[in-house]
Amino acid sequence: MNEKRFLTSSITNHLLCTVLALGSLIPGAWAQTATQVPPAVDQKNTASDPWWKHGVIYEIYPRSFQDTDGDGIGDIKGITSRLDYIKQLGIDAIWISPMYPSPQIDFGYDIADYTAIDPQYGTMADFEHLTAEAKSRNIRVIMDYVPNHTSDQSAWFKESRSSRDNPKRDWYIWHDPKGFTADGKPIPPNNWQSWFGHSAWEWDASTKQYYYHHFYVQQPDLNWRNPEVVKAMMDVLRFWMNKGVNGFRVDAVSRLFEDPNLHDDPIQPGLNAFGDPNIQHKYTDNLPEVHDMLREMRKVIDEYPGNPVLISEADEPNIFELSKMYGKNNDEVQLPMDFQVADVNELNAPKFRQLLDEVENNPAHGQPYFFFGNHDQDRIWDRYSIGVNDPAMKARIARMMAALLLTSRATPQMYYGDEIGMITSTPTRIEDVRDPEGITGWPKQKGRDGERTPMQWDTSKNAGFSTSNTTWLPVASDYKTVNVAVETPDHESMLNWYKRLIELRRINPALYEGNMQMLNPNENVVSYLRKGPAGQPSVLVALNFSDKPQTLKYDFTALGLSKGATKTLETDDPSLNHAPLTKSITLAPYATWIAEAQ
Ligand code: NOJ
Ligand code: MG
Repeated sequence: MNEKRFLTSSITNHLLCTVLALGSLIPGAWAQTATQVPPAVDQKNTASDPWWKHGVIYEIYPRSFQDTDGDGIGDIKGITSRLDYIKQLGIDAIWISPMYPSPQIDFGYDIADYTAIDPQYGTMADFEHLTAEAKSRNIRVIMDYVPNHTSDQSAWFKESRSSRDNPKRDWYIWHDPKGFTADGKPIPPNNWQSWFGHSAWEWDASTKQYYYHHFYVQQPDLNWRNPEVVKAMMDVLRFWMNKGVNGFRVDAVSRLFEDPNLHDDPIQPGLNAFGDPNIQHKYTDNLPEVHDMLREMRKVIDEYPGNPVLISEADEPNIFELSKMYGKNNDEVQLPMDFQVADVNELNAPKFRQLLDEVENNPAHGQPYFFFGNHDQDRIWDRYSIGVNDPAMKARIARMMAALLLTSRATPQMYYGDEIGMITSTPTRIEDVRDPEGITGWPKQKGRDGERTPMQWDTSKNAGFSTSNTTWLPVASDYKTVNVAVETPDHESMLNWYKRLIELRRINPALYEGNMQMLNPNENVVSYLRKGPAGQPSVLVALNFSDKPQTLKYDFTALGLSKGATKTLETDDPSLNHAPLTKSITLAPYATWIAEAQ
């Protein structure tokens, strides 16, 4: 049976009955029209706040968003053609994964030329048109900046590998072998491992040295200790800022520097999915020099008006390291991605409670930045519902995580397709795998194709993504029921749940700017209070992380809320539409409750 078809119809029927039965009890937010476009952040903004403090950011994986030239691969014109959809959703900025010329080994994260557009995505004129159209809709454009490595096909690397005395030799990390085996084979300089499996050193037979690659063999690391590299890479930032972009998502930035003394990384017990010993990337990750470079990048973007933003991709091991990303004087990254929170791959309420509290009170007083889905990890739909088979429960879990994303104080980052409930479609045969990580790691690590399938727009061929007979990755099998066209008129669809939450975040003063105080009304429930500004109600959020009903007890008086919860703003538990609530309440399994409280 098609799980999603069952889900959509059962939820619709169920809620239709509820809606009819509840009549006028339905809270305000439920009655709002789905097509209403929320005001842009700037229209509401307090003058002192930069846009990125309140804006919702939406990641677009360009290969998979919209194809317009019929080659089965998404393109820039496709993104432009969907800007109205993005606007209707309530998005303030799009982050577009790399569209630069690339051999596409790592689907764009192997860049051959930082200041051009890959012809398979279009032309520079197409890109300029996209930014102009986005700007006219007050949607910012954030580029993906990949500073750690280039493609091995970049002109820089081709020069570097051409001879030991080439002026660009030192732009990459070249080392002699540690020695040779008895039969004359070179031995890598040390035990450093690639993120994608096996040694991080690749032998270059013609110049008889190894080069270092933290990621794929085809992604040699740049040498950020060379000032010419730093200058060239700062010029890349300027190039795109001059094109009118509003900032950068900085890829793998904690990997910029490696130990110049080549110490071996500490080996840990066990083997990883690639069959290599587990390793701690102690000498290739998070070296203190990274912060010097983040300050340099920040200085460059700060030369431009409009509050451009840096978003760092770095999986920091704890809140102190994460906090450092903001910079001692708030002079590094404005929005460090919170992998602490994103890497909790289970509905572990105590863990979430602790991490949300830590980042809310981070020592740098920086703005938190959350995401639960991206092009490197299973989609929200699947990640938090391992072992849950009931599609209605899976949907509730996905809604709950959307609610956490969109009602926390953190700047939220969404991933295309999560808003319609797209599932992870992991290949079932190695011959179908496109992501090299999945080929090296098969069957333990099947790669990232599953979360990169084409966007599902409608019920037509290839879900309206492409007219081609084949698409670069197959369209997910559920597209006839899970798509934008079907979900738009359905008030209870995932899409409209997202739209209402985004809108609520914008129009409700407590959700817009209130502090976030973690509460503990029940061990299995993640709950917090977003404090309303003076004279305005606060908002109470409760998310049942368990498969059983949970009773919540709030000490409203201690929270300074003498009236209790006065109005439900949004919930997928129909029993909670009633208000006011001053006593204990019971929340259905995996249900979400968002209420005004005063
Ligand atoms: C992180 C990106 O998100 C991922 O897709 C890529 O493979 C690595 N960085 C290397 O650039
Ligand atoms: Mg590096």
